Amino acid sequence: MTDEYARLERACSGLQAPFALVDLDAMWSNAAEMLARSADKPIRVASKSVRSRALLDKILAHHPRLRGLMTFTLSETLWLHGHGHRDLLLAYPTADRLGLAELGRIESHDRPIVMVDCSAGLDFIARAVPSPAAPVRVCIELDVGFPLLRGRVKLGPKRSPIRTPDAAVALVREIERRPGVELAGLMAYEGHIAGLGDSPLRKPLHARAIRWMQRASAAEISERRAAVVEAVSAVSPLGLVNGGGTGSLHTTSAEPAVSELTAGSGFYAPTLFDRYSAFRLRPAAMFALPVVRRPGARVATLLGGGYHASGAAGRDRLPEPYLPAGLALDPLEGAGEVQTPVKGGAAEALAVGDNVYLRHAKAGELLERFASVHLMSRGEVVDEVPSYRGEGQCFL
Ligand SMILES: Cc1ncc(COP(=O)(O)O)c(C=O)c1O
Repeated sequence: MTDEYARLERACSGLQAPFALVDLDAMWSNAAEMLARSADKPIRVASKSVRSRALLDKILAHHPRLRGLMTFTLSETLWLHGHGHRDLLLAYPTADRLGLAELGRIESHDRPIVMVDCSAGLDFIARAVPSPAAPVRVCIELDVGFPLLRGRVKLGPKRSPIRTPDAAVALVREIERRPGVELAGLMAYEGHIAGLGDSPLRKPLHARAIRWMQRASAAEISERRAAVVEAVSAVSPLGLVNGGGTGSLHTTSAEPAVSELTAGSGFYAPTLFDRYSAFRLRPAAMFALPVVRRPGARVATLLGGGYHASGAAGRDRLPEPYLPAGLALDPLEGAGEVQTPVKGGAAEALAVGDNVYLRHAKAGELLERFASVHLMSRGEVVDEVPSYRGEGQCFL
């Protein structure tokens, strides 16, 4: 058994698995790595990738350049606002009528900002909040997908229909014509760079194609984003221009048109972020499952574990056994609803009641499975804090 596994087992000897764990020392090392890749730009923290208020508070207090939250639903945004959080940017359009009505009652200058990308979205806001106490602050989203084959194929998240300076200016003029809304900023997320590792395991050709696509796309985005920002700023001032994610901090931060970046996943460093050639993060979030059976010499069966990540279904969305090293999921069983067998030489030394530590493929989704998360520092468990679920919140 490795020293690292023994250290974890010693630290967690008072805890009953299953439990979630965040290694704060690894998380702060990841924060430093991300701040270094961000030049001197501020990083807005993606709340969906953290999903614990206590951890969000710790992250925001950790460094002056970690500031503001990028939120994922309007009810979450209003809940955080109710708990005193400010500088909130909701990064996904909302169809939450009641939430918009509540947002419309907030008058303060720093009221949360919501995302729009078309006139139908503006109409929806106008119907939900016909007479807000103060104009609803909106951010327009720009599509930064990478066009191939003269635009017949587009790589990247399918988000906004706005791609050109003209289209962005047309939407801004529409915002200006409406008394119930005001322009607060512009956001563009290059998910095919920020969220796609360029070093997939055992796929060298695939890796070369990804690297070519990401280099070409980053160059195209840099020019187009600057042109859109210039055109929009000539019509209406932009309070913020947000871009990037954990995997693109080093490229997006080089764009003068971008005023702030976003990152969330990099704090926990789930397995999907192991596959980037430009940076290394330390696994910070994990979960422990107890060994409940030993069906064979090189097999240990764990309780629970079927915590698949969202996205196109594939093996890379499954949790990965982490410690002790040398364990793998059984390809025929994967990660099960109630039981997960793990196989390999390291299973031989495992006894019923020992823990196996696993990592999730994505960041915040792990905390939808646990009401609390234990925090570890310098080899000791130092605190236990609630997840969103632990506070009774289930936003998505
Ligand atoms: C708009 C936007 N910005 C940034 C991110 C990056 O978040 P993370 O750093 O957690 O991958 C995301 C994630 O999906 C996003 O939707």
